[in-house]
Amino acid sequence: MLWLKAFHIVFVVTWFAGLFYLPRLFVHHAEATEPAVHARLTIMERRLLVMTHIGGVLAIVFGLLTLWRMPGWLAAGWMHAKLALVLALAVYHLQLVRMVRRFAAGTNRWSSRSLRIFNELPALALIAIVILVVVKPF
Ligand code: HEM
Repeated sequence: MLWLKAFHIVFVVTWFAGLFYLPRLFVHHAEATEPAVHARLTIMERRLLVMTHIGGVLAIVFGLLTLWRMPGWLAAGWMHAKLALVLALAVYHLQLVRMVRRFAAGTNRWSSRSLRIFNELPALALIAIVILVVVKPF
């Protein structure tokens, strides 16, 4: 069971690397004026998105396997709150997919200021999830 939890945490870190850095690339992309910078950021975003997919899928797979080995947690309030936040992260991830496509097509409408605010959301979810799963407050 501890191996499952260890790999769960490894892929959570991988997932968050993409959830944190992709919106940061979008901020630079929204401020870019040169076609060469646009082309380079488009390649970086596409490659980082692949890593974010791998991290997200495996973080959830190992999380579900850990939960399968500890089904009692399913009745816990902290696990319900955690799973709700994980669902919000999955929606955020899908929004990143749409934004990678829009930036590649040159049809992004988000300002760099709104992208900076958007960039902060995963950090709030991370803090809340780690407190829920380590402290188990309810
Ligand atoms: C469907 C998604 C997920 C499921 C089913 C899940 C399930 C679990 C379960 C059952 C544990 C073991 C709890 C324990 O032994 O105390 C665990 C541990 C953990 N989970 Fe998740 N998790 C999911 C997603 C995430 C995400 C997105 C994060 C991001 C921060 C996360 C962070 C952690 C951490 C840090 C631990 C280790 C806690 C400890 O050892 O005290 N999990 N998870």
